[in-house]
Amino acid sequence: MNIAFAEISLAKPGALAVLVTEGTTLRGVAADLDDKLGGALKRAVKAAGFTGKSGSILEVVGPQGVSASRVLLAGLGKSGEVSAAGLEKAGGELVGRISKASEASLSIILDGISAPKLTAAEAAARVAFGARLRSYRFDKYKTKKKEDGKKTELKSITVMTRAAAAARKDYGTLSKVADGMALARDLVNEPPNVLFPGEFARRTRALSKLGVKVEVLGEAAMKKLGMGSLLGVGYGSQHESQLVVMRWMGGKPGEKPVAFVGKGVCFDTGGISLKPGAGMEDMKGDMGGAACVTGLMHTLAARKAKVNAIGVIGLVENMPDGKAQRPGDIVTSMSGQTIEIINTDAEGRLVLADALWYTQSRFKPKFMIDLATLTGAIMIALGKEYAGLFSNDDKLSKQLTEAGEAEGEKVWRMPMGAAYDKMIDSRFADMKNVGGRDGGSITAAQFLQRFVNKLPWAHLDIAGTAMASPQTATNQSWGSGWGVRLLNRLVADHYEK
Ligand code: BES
Ligand code: MN
Ligand code: ZN
Repeated sequence: MNIAFAEISLAKPGALAVLVTEGTTLRGVAADLDDKLGGALKRAVKAAGFTGKSGSILEVVGPQGVSASRVLLAGLGKSGEVSAAGLEKAGGELVGRISKASEASLSIILDGISAPKLTAAEAAARVAFGARLRSYRFDKYKTKKKEDGKKTELKSITVMTRAAAAARKDYGTLSKVADGMALARDLVNEPPNVLFPGEFARRTRALSKLGVKVEVLGEAAMKKLGMGSLLGVGYGSQHESQLVVMRWMGGKPGEKPVAFVGKGVCFDTGGISLKPGAGMEDMKGDMGGAACVTGLMHTLAARKAKVNAIGVIGLVENMPDGKAQRPGDIVTSMSGQTIEIINTDAEGRLVLADALWYTQSRFKPKFMIDLATLTGAIMIALGKEYAGLFSNDDKLSKQLTEAGEAEGEKVWRMPMGAAYDKMIDSRFADMKNVGGRDGGSITAAQFLQRFVNKLPWAHLDIAGTAMASPQTATNQSWGSGWGVRLLNRLVADHYEK
């Protein structure tokens, strides 16, 4: 998708849209356009009962008096309450509409709209950002791309504003966020026969072009480090497990880094504790945490964030096999703590145990945030609207909660404590990998905390949000890329100098 910014013109071919607020639908540019159309817009507004509500669209197809083949009004809601999210939504809805139409180009006019917290340029950039996110598609495996009867695809979007030059610059940063999100979405959407641990690791190497240092540890290296917990998960797989370490050092030399750790189970069959068949194909997305960390590292490097950031992802495939790990096995983690495997389907925590320990021992970060599609139980608790937040630190929790509200990737803090921790004590080892059905997401978080020393840490359980997240104007894809914009915002607001 080509996205551009230009000065305002009503003489564009293709689809031409004007953003309007409630109650003032036909002022300014919209009124000029209506004049050219001989009052057709006014009649359409009346006939359709269009009020300019946020997310609403009015369409006049094949109008007379302009070169555009379609004219649209897109609602932003009440004037005075126009937000970044509302502007993104309008851009997204327009792309959704035109994607189903025959125009190859869409021009969106933003004029005379004031958004309380944004400059005119920032507002226009947000429209473009929403349009860009909504135009994401994962169709590389479709050999017949055209929908029935559809001759052309939407190829270019122009946002027209009096602040075109400044908007272009503001969008420059946002487009890096969109790039990181698209990378994360691609990784989640890829089928598991293509994206196995080695292939995932190979793709992270592309980040070195942006200045990210990428190191890949194979099984021999992990064995030397004593990562028996992570390695046990991959015993049943034909694919070698991998640990990828990404480093972006854009901050002051010597300054402690921030660290992000991702669960990268490229496919989760459950292992010997095999999952039921229905819906198992979705478990190709069980590397959503690792995808987010990779997308985030991309974004931070691409926008040259002034921060030292570490991304560590543990990549494995959880398969049943004669060599696979069994329930009853006891493994020794890098921390030295032993784990009794009760259920081989509780594998994400086993991967993270060693990845977290490795990250804190090697990098001594300011904080550590892990992301994992860890438990089905988090969906029972929170649905798909919020990710679960578990943390030992109130400040980091507050920062994450606020960043989540701002970016529309919301997190809800869940309780932790000694009573939950006791539930994973084992008869035979230091701990067991499941604590029973009750509070399943919480005991999973308690397990992770046993591998975190005294540093601020947060765990985001994204099982509900990383895949098939709620369909919104700006996200229609299965892999959502959830977490990239949230963590980019956290870094930008609090950890960049
Ligand atoms: N990857 C799953 C969790 C999951 C389920 C993610 C559905 C996305 C959608 C995880 O490895 C898992 O299997 N968890 C088990 C834990 C149980 C065995 C204690 C679960 O949630 O059932
Ligand atoms: Mn599992
Ligand atoms: Zn899993």
